[in-house]
Amino acid sequence: MAELIDGKVIAAELRQQISTDVEELIVKGVTPGLAVVLVGEDPASRVYVSMKEKACAAAGIYSVEHKLSAETPEAELLDLIAQLNDDNKIDGILVQLPLPKHIAEAKILEAISPSKDVDGFHPYNVGRLVTGDPVFKPCTPYGVMKLLEHTGVSLEGKDVVIVGRSNIVGKPLALMCLAEHATVTICHSRTVDLVQKVVAADVVIAAVGRPEMIKGDWIKKGAVVIDVGVNRVGEKKLVGDVDFAAASINAAAITPVPGGVGPMTITMLLYNTLLSAKRRVGQ
Ligand code: GUN
Repeated sequence: MAELIDGKVIAAELRQQISTDVEELIVKGVTPGLAVVLVGEDPASRVYVSMKEKACAAAGIYSVEHKLSAETPEAELLDLIAQLNDDNKIDGILVQLPLPKHIAEAKILEAISPSKDVDGFHPYNVGRLVTGDPVFKPCTPYGVMKLLEHTGVSLEGKDVVIVGRSNIVGKPLALMCLAEHATVTICHSRTVDLVQKVVAADVVIAAVGRPEMIKGDWIKKGAVVIDVGVNRVGEKKLVGDVDFAAASINAAAITPVPGGVGPMTITMLLYNTLLSAKRRVGQ
């Protein structure tokens, strides 16, 4: 039976350390600051944004929220970003995705100063991750790497299979695993024999957003399973991309949903904001 990789416990430990570091910076006269920009009324985005606010407050990080209507013109959002780029109380700028259709996401992400890009989505920061010299690592994949680190399993020489190729999770995660000397396979909707890839994996990371599509008998005995998926089924129930109960039979270690990767994402956002503030004062 698999060991549970408890994201809540691991996130709480990290947040404790972050709070301590924030306190030390504040004593030196520097308060880390995060600006969160939300455009429109997407209910899931609103929940995430309010969780980010609460997490900042608990860690002692100053945060400001800019809530803009769904009809906000692109130029107005660009103006706000320019203002935040110049605001020396702000160390991190996060524009919650997805954005309304009339706004070009790439243009917005490129407008954020790379030195305040705590999401790690600016092409400069993506490039730095590709070359193996990252400035800010994207929060969800970074959180996954922290969970893997906690299992004590080295990725060196291991076969890691990532299911999902998004810019936010799959692609950056592949680069981070590569940096740890894993052999990485990225699978996606057009992968011809997904099962054959997954059954051979030492580490399976699911980030596709399809409820329980990774079946228990696809998991090799002793594999580590990380489930990034959060899928709502019915009114209340959340499930991951992996059939958790069945996968737990063969897996050596597995993350639950909820309580696995979820708590790590915001934790790494706090971490990146702290890092940015430290850089501001040359630490
Ligand atoms: N939407 C879903 N995940 C993320 C994330 O990590 N950052 C931002 N900005 N938007 C998101």
